[in-house]
Amino acid sequence: MKFLLIGIFIVFFLLLIVAIYKISELKSVNYNQPEFLADKKILTIYFSNNGNTKCVAQNINNIIGGDIKEIELVENYPKNIFAMSNLTRKQMKDGYLPKIKDVDISNYDIIFIGSPVWNFSISLPVKTFLNNNNFDNKILIPFFTYSGGANQNKIVKEIENITGVNSIKRPLFMFENGIILTKEQIIKWLNNI
Ligand SMILES: Cc1cc2nc3c(=O)[nH]c(=O)nc-3n(C[C@H](O)[C@H](O)[C@H](O)COP(=O)(O)O)c2cc1C
Repeated sequence: MKFLLIGIFIVFFLLLIVAIYKISELKSVNYNQPEFLADKKILTIYFSNNGNTKCVAQNINNIIGGDIKEIELVENYPKNIFAMSNLTRKQMKDGYLPKIKDVDISNYDIIFIGSPVWNFSISLPVKTFLNNNNFDNKILIPFFTYSGGANQNKIVKEIENITGVNSIKRPLFMFENGIILTKEQIIKWLNNI
């Protein structure tokens, strides 16, 4: 009985040391907002059909600060995924851009723009947003969620072509099942773009 109690005490003591170590490790993470974001007006704007991109947008906004807005369609896509996929494929083939509600981005210096990957490319509502707005003198930082594949280089070129901005920051691509981003992941990405 005495040995059992001593054993339990030792295990408890070791667990306590591990917990204290982990807490101090978390506290010591050096979180420095990248310099290019300092004193800038920041907007995180996104389109999200299913909530994945919204989740990443909220993560970014929570950590970076600034405002957050959602790109809203004037006419919604069909709820049925097959009908929606067929329609988006047809719209892409025809070069059709769906109408979205206007968003005023004139006040912002830095725009985080989030989109799901659709047919290996930018989602159409985000294409409309990029097409409708003027990004002169703004820093554009794209982020994407996807489920299988995306042509990342082609996507950056496409954003450059639509906006005329040729210094698009390196986008973040998040696989749809891993969308809870830590502060460290976001800062690491932003320090390397
Ligand atoms: C019309 C449509 C097309 C898609 N095409 C692709 C694709 O080409 N590659 C890919 O990896 N995921 C593709 N996906 C999956 C989405 O990119 C992925 O589920 C994303 O996280 C959805 O984001 P959301 O929840 O913000 O809408 C597609 C989804 C839809 C609805």
